Amino acid sequence: MSQNKYLIPLHKPFWGKDEEKAAVMAMRSGTGVGDLNYSELLSKEISQIVGSKYALPTGSGTASLELAFALFLNKGDEVILPSFTFSSCANAILLAGGKPVFADIDIQTYNINPKDIEKLITKRTKAIMVVHYAGMAADMEEINKIAHTYKLIVIEDAAHALGAKYYGKYLGTLGLIGCYSFHGTKNAASGEGGAFVTNNSKINKIAEIIREKGTNRSSFMRGERGKYSWVRVGRSLILSDILSAIALVQMKKLSQITSLRQKKAEYLLTKLRSLSSKIVLPQVSQGTDPNWHIFAIRVPKSSRSRIVKELKSYGVEASFHFLPLHTSVMGKQLGYKKGSCPITEEVSSTLIRLPIYPQLKNSEIDYMVEVLKKIL
Ligand SMILES: Cc1ncc(COP(=O)(O)O)c(C=O)c1O
Repeated sequence: MSQNKYLIPLHKPFWGKDEEKAAVMAMRSGTGVGDLNYSELLSKEISQIVGSKYALPTGSGTASLELAFALFLNKGDEVILPSFTFSSCANAILLAGGKPVFADIDIQTYNINPKDIEKLITKRTKAIMVVHYAGMAADMEEINKIAHTYKLIVIEDAAHALGAKYYGKYLGTLGLIGCYSFHGTKNAASGEGGAFVTNNSKINKIAEIIREKGTNRSSFMRGERGKYSWVRVGRSLILSDILSAIALVQMKKLSQITSLRQKKAEYLLTKLRSLSSKIVLPQVSQGTDPNWHIFAIRVPKSSRSRIVKELKSYGVEASFHFLPLHTSVMGKQLGYKKGSCPITEEVSSTLIRLPIYPQLKNSEIDYMVEVLKKIL
C-alpha cells in the first residue's frame, strides 16, 4: 500500500523514539509471544488507568469482542446493538451463534438510542452492545437501567473510547465487559491490538483460557502450575509481547494524547462555529468527557461526496464513515431491511470525518477550516 499522500491525513499515530525502543527491547528480551513481561505490564497499566480489576491484552478490538461473546452467548440468543458500527460487532455475535438485532441511534450523539433498545427486547434478548462512537459516551445511565430491568448483560465496544469518561468514570468500565482497540488509527496504537476489561473475576478467569487456545497457559506462565493443558474450547486472541511493549508506552502517554486531542478539538470547534448554519457540529452531552477519537461533522446528503472529494483535492483527508450494517451486502443477505433504522441511514449518508490527531497544528486547522469555507 502507498504512503499517505495527503498534506493533512485523517489519522497519525503519536509514536516516537520511545515506542521504537520498546519494540526493540521486547524483541531482544524474548520470543515476542504473548503473555510475557510486557503483556503483563500492559495488563496492569490498563487496569490502573481505567480502574478495572482485570485487563487482558488481545490481538485486536475485534478479538476482544469475539472473546466477550464467546463467553456467554448461546445459540439463538439475541444481542441488541447499533447498526451504525463496524462489522466486527455483528461478526462477534454471529460467530458465537447469536443473532444481531439492530437498534437506531440518537441524532445528536450517533450512539445507540435507549428508547429503541427497549422496543426490541424479546424473550431471547441476552445482551446490549453499546458502541461509544467517536469516543463520545452513550447514555449509559438509561442503558444500564434497561439492562437491570430486563436482566441483560451490557458489553461496551470502547474501540474508539480509551481515555474518554462518563460522569468521571472511564468508558469500557460501565458494563460487564469493555473492549478496547489499539489499531493504528486509534488514540493509543500498537498497529494492531486491543484489550478486554472486566471487574468480574470469574469472567476474567474463563476469558484468559478462551483467549489462550482453550488452555490454562496464562496461569502456567505466572508460575501458578507446573504444566498447562487444554481445558475448554478456545481461540487464539492474545497480543504479541512486541506489540504489548509499544502499547505500554502508548498507555503511559494516554493522558497527554487525550488532552492534546481535546485541545485540537476545542480549537477546531471554535473555528467551525462560523459555519454552523451550513454544517452540524459534534455535540458533547452532559456528563461526557470525550477523547476526540473522531471529529465528525454532518452536511447535506446531496453535497457530501463533493465536499469529501474537494477537501481531498486540497490535501485534507476527510472521509465518510460506517455504512449501516443492516443495509450492507451481508446485512441484506441476512434479511435486514432498509428503513428499519432511519436515523442511522441519515447520519451515515451525511457524516464527514475531519482529520484529528495530537500532532495537528493550529495552522493546519486554520487551513482546513479555510478550505471548508471555500467549498461550502
Ligand atoms: C466501533 C468499532 N469496534 C470494533 C472495531 C475493531 O477494532 P480492531 O480494528 O482493533 O479489530 C473497530 C475498528 O475500527 C470499530 O470502529
